Amino acid sequence: MKHRKIKINAKTPYDVIIGKGLLSELAEHIEFDRAKTAVIITDDNVYPLYESAVRKPLENAGFKVLSYVFENGEKHKNPAELINIINFLAENKVTRADFIIALGGGIVGDMAGFAAGIYLRGIKYIQIPTTFLAAVDSSVGGKTAVNLTGGKNLAGLFYQPYAVICDPETFETLGDVTFADGVSEAVKHGFIHDENLFGKLKGKTRTEYMKDIVEIVARNVEIKGEIVASDEFEKGQRQLLNFGHTAAHAIEKCTEHAYSHGQAVALGMLIMARAAYKKGYCECDFSGEIEEAFSGFSRVLNMNFTAKQLYEAGLSDKKRHGGKINIIIPERVGKCVIKEIDAEELFEVFKSGLEERQ
Ligand code: GLY
Repeated sequence: MKHRKIKINAKTPYDVIIGKGLLSELAEHIEFDRAKTAVIITDDNVYPLYESAVRKPLENAGFKVLSYVFENGEKHKNPAELINIINFLAENKVTRADFIIALGGGIVGDMAGFAAGIYLRGIKYIQIPTTFLAAVDSSVGGKTAVNLTGGKNLAGLFYQPYAVICDPETFETLGDVTFADGVSEAVKHGFIHDENLFGKLKGKTRTEYMKDIVEIVARNVEIKGEIVASDEFEKGQRQLLNFGHTAAHAIEKCTEHAYSHGQAVALGMLIMARAAYKKGYCECDFSGEIEEAFSGFSRVLNMNFTAKQLYEAGLSDKKRHGGKINIIIPERVGKCVIKEIDAEELFEVFKSGLEERQ
């Protein structure tokens, strides 16, 4: 199948290339001087699966290749691991002419991107997302971060990659929960911005997703790219991408990551759609439509937390400014809007979002 190439018009523009089998022809898409060093940053889940598939074509094309591997999991997305990565770069005398490859899911991409952004005040990095979630969301748009004790992604940079290269064949090795994490973000893109995409994804099973995977990833990247190009630094429209995420981050924090990010986002979208209707911010309750969108997956949609727990966990959210917080609410399927509320009102929002669901 033909590869898709989508240009992201950030301040420093770059291409996202999507195609089955792309890993094996990686070097053809990297336009650097072949004498350079490539540093693959990955985790111990992805390393045995795809490191050599990335390493070989680069070595054959004349690159020197180094690898840094850290332990998988959200708890390793922390400042100490970030320092280990940049020390590794320094010990190996990596220069500004060299480049990093972020090979893996969102955690790898966020950490490697952050390291690329601060090491020597910035070196190039290429995102190679190996999860559906990273392909449709975190690999595009230049958000990089680590978690702090106070909350998720609280330290980071906006630092765009040099390119994103996505081979959806890597999604074949994902567990069902991890695959469904990507479904949450894809459904979110449809719900906030593209009614047609939302309709196409509704009720699809994993097999059905994989049949159209190049086109699905491409449409998601186009949507994300359009929003990022209009507001790279999240002063306005980019906040729409946070639909369900204030609740999701609160869920992740108060349950100590008992739910995966995608599960938390799915729950967060249901809570916010229900709350927006109950609070009179919109005319319809779209939570049923959102729930239906996930019907091809056995998702954990039970909510074992209270509004108070969510509120307390949600107060450290980055979207808070002074005593106010921006929430994203639906106007209709395919169009969401930003609404500023008093931060204290968030408790009532979560409470109405949880009503009749527990
Ligand atoms: N994941 C939301 C964003 O990149 O803005």
